[in-house]
Amino acid sequence: MQQVAALRWGTDESDAEGLRRTIGRGLREVFVAAADDPTRIRPLWTLFSRGDPLPLAKASRALGEPLLAAALEGGVLAAFEIDDEVWVRAEVSVLTAPVGELGVLVAADFGWHEDDREYVGGPGNATATLLDVVASLDVPPGLAVDVGTGSGAVAVWLRSRFATVTATDVNPRALALAELTAALNDSQIDVVQMSFVDGLTGDAALIACNPPFVVGADAPVVFRDAHPGLDPAMLAASFRAHLAPGGYAVLLANWPYRDGADARAALAAALDEVTDDASDVLLVERAVTTPEQYAAVWRDDPDEQQAWAMRLRGDGILGVGSGFIVIAAAGDDEPGQVDVAAAHQASDEPVGTAVGAWAARVRALREGDDDLASLVVRAAPAQQAEHAGVGVLRAGGPLGLAVHGPAVQIAQVAQPLLAECTEPRRVGDAIEAVPMARTLGRSAIFSLVRALVRTGLLVPCEVASTSGNKSNSETLH
Ligand SMILES: C[S@@+](CC[C@H](N)C(=O)[O-])C[C@H]1O[C@@H](n2cnc3c(N)ncnc32)[C@H](O)[C@@H]1O
Repeated sequence: MQQVAALRWGTDESDAEGLRRTIGRGLREVFVAAADDPTRIRPLWTLFSRGDPLPLAKASRALGEPLLAAALEGGVLAAFEIDDEVWVRAEVSVLTAPVGELGVLVAADFGWHEDDREYVGGPGNATATLLDVVASLDVPPGLAVDVGTGSGAVAVWLRSRFATVTATDVNPRALALAELTAALNDSQIDVVQMSFVDGLTGDAALIACNPPFVVGADAPVVFRDAHPGLDPAMLAASFRAHLAPGGYAVLLANWPYRDGADARAALAAALDEVTDDASDVLLVERAVTTPEQYAAVWRDDPDEQQAWAMRLRGDGILGVGSGFIVIAAAGDDEPGQVDVAAAHQASDEPVGTAVGAWAARVRALREGDDDLASLVVRAAPAQQAEHAGVGVLRAGGPLGLAVHGPAVQIAQVAQPLLAECTEPRRVGDAIEAVPMARTLGRSAIFSLVRALVRTGLLVPCEVASTSGNKSNSETLH
């Protein structure tokens, strides 16, 4: 196994940062200038995409002497001799990668270093899921934090939307590469070595985190993105403690199903603590996979897959749930609620729009009952079911959130309320129009209406946006 070369830190910290900025900006200029010229792009492709060596003279022609010298000094390139000829090869890959809607020049490690402890990967499917959700949220202006930044791609994307971005990681090589990625994109981010948000100063408008969530850290095949003891609920609570009023945290997570226990419900129960801290929480499970399917996501080698799956099964793990947690910090002091969605259908389809709509609805519900009565809503399509005296009304869309209640209440109050709102209608007027609603009492009827809005069975037609520049709800026309 080849060791990942340390990116040199220079004689002191500021020298190293300056060197990385020089290299990043220089490489950016060279990449931009070569974009439409195959003869100029070929040597860059050889070095930074394929990871193949080039004779020093060719590298010098492609990069120019000063940039070549800086890249060698900074450890981005390494020189070696074959038969008295000097060659160079890249120690870091530089590729344009899709990051959200952007094309970002990303500095990351070549795949053949994957098993190295300090390996830093580029953005992948999990990154795309994180950004799909983050992009859907109407986040107030303020500090954005990319926790576990790796290559820095997410931080650079955040910087296109937020004036101040802090990127954290425990891996010094990740922080160096994040700085390089920022320079490659002419972006300014603050890079800080810390574990998750321990020691973060100031409250954040947004915390985005694609953590080392992989289950099976103690398997014979130790996986780099596994973090023994990572507890998503504890991580969520620590993020909540660093959110400004109106802010959001989005955290990807995996959770093991052991011996038939309901891991999703257990995680939801643990997240309930976060809601005491004036916030609403959405837990979305996108898929549950068998140990064999799970191991195949992370490993290509069939023997390694089998060893990993057997170890998971040996630990009593029968399946692994994967998804994400969204925390919406309130601007008031009232506790919130955990909503749980099993969005399993087409687990690779984006759900960001549905999450953004959920966030807008729970924000609207932060208003008191008087404001709720004057909220204009419209009913969304619902599926209904009944089992052992319990009625269920399930909203359509990928989240499929549901309202449960006594079957008689669902049939005689909830359904007629929805029927009253096939056109936009004030909540108070709809309640007045349903005779059985008035018999429930004010507190019970408003709590039912809140449940209908939370789940998306009633959609607010106009929700004041937090930052005033976006609304995730329907608008009244
Ligand atoms: C799955 S990668 C995510 C990289 C990048 N944010 C992305 O989405 O493409 C997880 C990152 O978390 C970092 N990490 C691991 N433990 C950490 C900790 N305790 N605190 C902060 N970051 C950590 C790893 O070094 C790695 O860079």
